[in-house]
Order: sequence, then C-alpha cells, then structure tokens
Amino acid sequence: MSSLTTYDPLDPATLANPYPVLAELRSSTPVFWHEGMRSWALTRYSDCVAVLRDHVRFARDRRRTGAAVSEPSLSVQSLDPPEQFPVRSLFMNALRAQDLDAIGRRARSLLDARFDQLADRAEFDVMAEVAAPLSVAVISDLLGVDEPDVDSFVSISDAIMRSMDAGLDPAVAEPGRMARRELSALVESWFRTSGRPGLLSHVREHAKGSSDTDLDLYVRNTARVMFQGGYSTMVAAVGNAVHTLLRHPNALDRMRDSAVLRTGVDELVRFDGPVQGTSRIATAPVEVGGVTVNTGETVLILFAAANHDPAQFADPEQLLLDRLPNRHLGYGWGTHSCIGTVAAQTTLRALISSLLENPTRLHAASPPVRRNTATMRAFDLLPATFCP
Ligand code: HEM
Repeated sequence: MSSLTTYDPLDPATLANPYPVLAELRSSTPVFWHEGMRSWALTRYSDCVAVLRDHVRFARDRRRTGAAVSEPSLSVQSLDPPEQFPVRSLFMNALRAQDLDAIGRRARSLLDARFDQLADRAEFDVMAEVAAPLSVAVISDLLGVDEPDVDSFVSISDAIMRSMDAGLDPAVAEPGRMARRELSALVESWFRTSGRPGLLSHVREHAKGSSDTDLDLYVRNTARVMFQGGYSTMVAAVGNAVHTLLRHPNALDRMRDSAVLRTGVDELVRFDGPVQGTSRIATAPVEVGGVTVNTGETVLILFAAANHDPAQFADPEQLLLDRLPNRHLGYGWGTHSCIGTVAAQTTLRALISSLLENPTRLHAASPPVRRNTATMRAFDLLPATFCP
C-alpha cells in the first residue's frame, strides 16, 4: 500500500483500488506536494472546482507560463480562453447538430449483435471484444468518418494513453510521440476527402472563410484529440462500468427504471470513472486550500479523490444509482469540460439497455487485469461470460 509520503498511483494496491489512499490523503493533507510529479495534488472537491473555474490564474496553455508548445499539440484541449473559444464553440455547435439518439440506436444494435455472437463463449474479454469495437464505431459514427481498422487503431491509442503518464515513466513518451504521428496521418486523410455527414463535416463547413488563420490548424488537432481522447475514455468507461456492475449484482436491474438509467450512468462515472486527474499551471502566486502555489507550479486536480469527497457526496463509497444532484467531476468542469459528455452518456445507456434486454446474464470470469496507467483508469483485460 502506498504510504502518504510516497503516494504512488502505479502501486499495484492503489491501481486495484485508489479510493482508500486518496481518502486518507484528503483527511490528512488535502493539498500535498508530490515530488515525483513535481506538482501540488488536490484531493478536496471544493479545491478542485476552485482551480478548474479559475482559468485566469490556472492555465492549461503552457505558453502562458513561458513554455514552448509544439504546433500539433495546439487544440481545444491545450488552448485557453479567449483563444480556445472559437474552436470550442465550433465543436460544441457541431455536436448539438448531431442526431445523438440515432447514434445511440446504432450503438445499441451493434451491442445486441455482438452479445449474440458472444452468447456461447465460455469466456471473452469485454475490453477487446465489446468496449473497443463499440467505442471505435461510436466515435467514427459521431465524427462522420470511415471506421479505422480496430486492432491497429487500438495499438496507436494505447501508446498515446500510456504516454499520458510520461511524468511518472519517461520511457512511454517516445512511443506516444510516434503514435501521435500515425494518428495525425489518419486524421489528415479525413481532411483530404469530402467525408460523410457528421460532426467533422459540420465543423469544416462552419470554419470555412474564417479570418482566424490558426483555426484550420486547431480544428485538425482537435479532430485528432476528439477521436483518440473520445475513444480511449469511452473504452475505459465501458470497462469500468461493466466491472462495477459485475461487483454490484442488483445494480443492472435497478436501471430498468428509465429515471434510474439516466442518473445511473452518471453515478457509474463518479464511482469509478476513467479520467483520474488533470493538471493546470499557476500564472500568479495563488492560495489553494491553505497552501501557496507559486507562479509556474503545476497543480494536479485529482478527479478520483474529489468524486469520493464526503463533503460533496453523501456515502461516497456507495454506488447510489439514483444519486441526485450528482455534480461529479468525471467529465471535468469549466472551460475544458468534456465535449463528448452527451455522446458518452448515450453510449453507456445503450450498453446498459442491451445488457438488460439480453436473455442471459453477464458474469465475471477469470480475474480482471488493471492497466498500469495512472491518468486513465482502465482494464487491460476484463473476462466475462453470459450465463442463464
Ligand atoms: C465516459 C466517457 C468520457 C469521459 C469520462 C470523459 C472525460 C473527460 C474529462 C474529465 C475531460 C476534461 C479534462 C480536463 O479538464 O483536462 C474531458 C475533455 C474532453 N473530452 Fe471527454 N470524456 C469521455 C468521452 C468523450 C468522448 C466520447 C469525446 C468525443 C467524442 C470526448 C471528447 C473530449 C474533448 C475534445 C475534451 C477536451 C475539451 C477541452 O479541453 O475543451 N470525451 N473528457
């Protein structure tokens, strides 16, 4: 078990269940300096929200504190207001123009067909055989692009996902850079063709003729972030949700009630969500939770800790599928909050509905294997089987 002074998110016990050590940290040293990550880590909900709200004193864009950022990294995710505003609103408006119910229906038929194929298997891996193909299909459908080959896309995405922990393990940085180049080539191929209707064609149509010369670059980079970021969080969210349901045998049936299905998919993300944290950099000396953060220092917002903070959530360790309100940080908060939230909720509802309508029941099989990544909480392997 990680001790509080050597908190290691990659410690096997912490990977298996990060919430007890985060709870200890929250009550003993809610804001603590993590030497390995050279960051102030925040564990209280109120401190996390205060930082996420304050994009003036806490930058996402590293250029605001003098760092260099390469061109391919400039996207909705790395820019701050006011520069971020036109690109974020382009993508948000394009998303609102999509028929998400239709995307949900297509996700549901894909799942029904897949579960039929898996019905007689003694054991299958939910990650490789359900979560990955489902997530590639949904994101391609949403963006309006041809589905890439699932296996090759999964290896690109995995290298990028692992490189998010480069602060903890520098060896993962270079494979991540190479995978980003491969992904860029795929995204550029979408921009060479006219493409079918979807989010991307809407964005391209509405970005045309803009006087902002950087907008085209930001749009291409954001398309890449949406595809890869959307895929990797979706895959991880599906795995974590299935795992939680397998450990709470009555939970699935509770979601036959449509109101509980609606609140339940959010509670699954609060309870064990995929994105464990994010970071910002102080642009001025600023006090957070009784600690002074100096200009240029990094602040780590631990969503996983905030989402289990008893000051915000009654019985945080309980899965309460009808929890309302549930202002969790699983999709972030503020100007960088998730653009794909509604698409993600739609996909998770399709998953639950398909499992509920299945004549057989999903059961855990061999022990699952957690992925050795800290920023993204996911499974490498999640074996399951359908039994009557
Ligand atoms: C259950 C699935 C998902 C979860 C839990 C999730 C979570 C998050 C979180 C926590 C952030 C904020 C990160 C930060 O503040 O640094 C974020 C941002 C983002 N998400 Fe998601 N996400 C999910 C699915 C998706 C999907 C399906 C898409 C795309 C179709 C998507 C696209 C994005 C984008 C583009 C951003 C960056 C927004 C910005 O910086 O302005 N996400 N997501």
